[in-house]
Amino acid sequence: MQVRVETRAPGARVSKHLYGQFAEHIGRCIYDGLWVGEDSTIPNEAGLRLDVLEALQALELPVLRWPGGCFADTYHWREGVGPKSERPKRHNLWWQQPESNAFGTHEFLHLCELLGCEPYICLNVGSGSPREARDWVEYCNSSADTELVALRNANGRAEPWNVKFWGIGNETWGCGGRMRPEYYADLYRNFAAYVKAAAGPDARLFAVGSFPDFPEWDERFLLQMKGALDLVDFLAVHVYSGAGMPATDFTLEEYYRLMKQVDSMVNHVRRTLDLVSAFSTPSHKLGVVLDEWGTWYREAVVETGMFQQNTLQDALFAAVSFHRFHELSDGLCMTNMAQTVNVLQALVLTSGPQAVKTPTYHVFDLFKPHREGRLLPVSFDSVPDLPTEKAETAGVPAVSVSATLGANGRLCVSLVNLSPERSFECALELSAGPWQVQQARQLAGELHAHNTFEAPETVTPADLSPQSADLEHLDLPPASITMLELTRPADQPTAER
Ligand code: AHR
Repeated sequence: MQVRVETRAPGARVSKHLYGQFAEHIGRCIYDGLWVGEDSTIPNEAGLRLDVLEALQALELPVLRWPGGCFADTYHWREGVGPKSERPKRHNLWWQQPESNAFGTHEFLHLCELLGCEPYICLNVGSGSPREARDWVEYCNSSADTELVALRNANGRAEPWNVKFWGIGNETWGCGGRMRPEYYADLYRNFAAYVKAAAGPDARLFAVGSFPDFPEWDERFLLQMKGALDLVDFLAVHVYSGAGMPATDFTLEEYYRLMKQVDSMVNHVRRTLDLVSAFSTPSHKLGVVLDEWGTWYREAVVETGMFQQNTLQDALFAAVSFHRFHELSDGLCMTNMAQTVNVLQALVLTSGPQAVKTPTYHVFDLFKPHREGRLLPVSFDSVPDLPTEKAETAGVPAVSVSATLGANGRLCVSLVNLSPERSFECALELSAGPWQVQQARQLAGELHAHNTFEAPETVTPADLSPQSADLEHLDLPPASITMLELTRPADQPTAER
């Protein structure tokens, strides 16, 4: 097949925030997964386990959402600051587990600093108050001479963290308070007025948006917000995929269904983008974020701590989803895959002192060079669709390609072959060349393949040799993700030539 990339027509910027993450107090995501405590025998930095920390640092994650999820609307931030021995023990209502409060504001924001990512804090609307929310913002961001700033100082942090991203509740149509959109909009105005004032001019506020079963939520909310839409920066929607299917023993038809669900997710985002554009003005453009997404298989229930295995299928799902997100770059401002460690479509799995990177981890790693690049037009000959026998899962092309041009002149082309059986030989036609391959990496294998603690490298990217990275005859093996980074000799710094 022939793939053409027009490198002279860079389009929208692919925000790094499309590659965000979400970590909630749920199952073993925070406790065990990220946090083991200073006294643990597991090597740690201020209680944060080093193996996971180092794995995540390598991904240069742009943003991390916390503390929930459903947990957020039960969380009272003051219980998670101050001496750990004095923090009250609670019961985590939605996820049915003890909550020690050992991991709180300081621990989360320290984690973000170590990861070099921006924090995104979700405030408690469901069982909290505007005052509690405003106080949390002041505690994090203020440098005024106030009691809360003195408390932060006493708790070991003099400098404000200047948290920019604030969510006003989570799923307020469900676990966040079972509200009607009109009622939530009124609460939103009340909370956001104080949060915006306290957080400073750079702050960005996220309103709870819809999920696919309640699409009318968005319009009813936005209508009720008329006159105060300046308080909303983003509408945050949630879409999970893979319901009812098993994580590892899935059939081919289930695999095709999952790949088709990428369309449903993208359609939901698109429809939200269309809607918010109707409520935007020249001086205030509303954006959309997808702050929970990913696979959610049948094994992931409260009793299992929402744990599920992660196979090459998950990596393919993530890769094609990112390709589609790139195309929405004009209005889709952030996505946060759920959830970073041990929960749902995790990047890392842990068991006691062991940690293993999942196939999804490797997609985040492979696609790093796409971030902040400008999207390029790509065209290719028609490719066959995945060979599903069911009408409702038909129409998924076997190959997906995305290309970006970085500010440094580096061209990135990622190619995903979703076919579990067929390989494709691809000839790449790149305009304004000649282009030279600087790096070529490929993640490939059997759809069900996954990494275990015994065999942690079963699914891991391989460097392609210069012969294999032949732009005229690039082999896309079945179920594979290929990432090429290219430069023009003329753009290379002298040392690289
Ligand atoms: O990610 C798990 C849960 O899914 C979150 O807590 C909630 O927001 C969503 O329903």
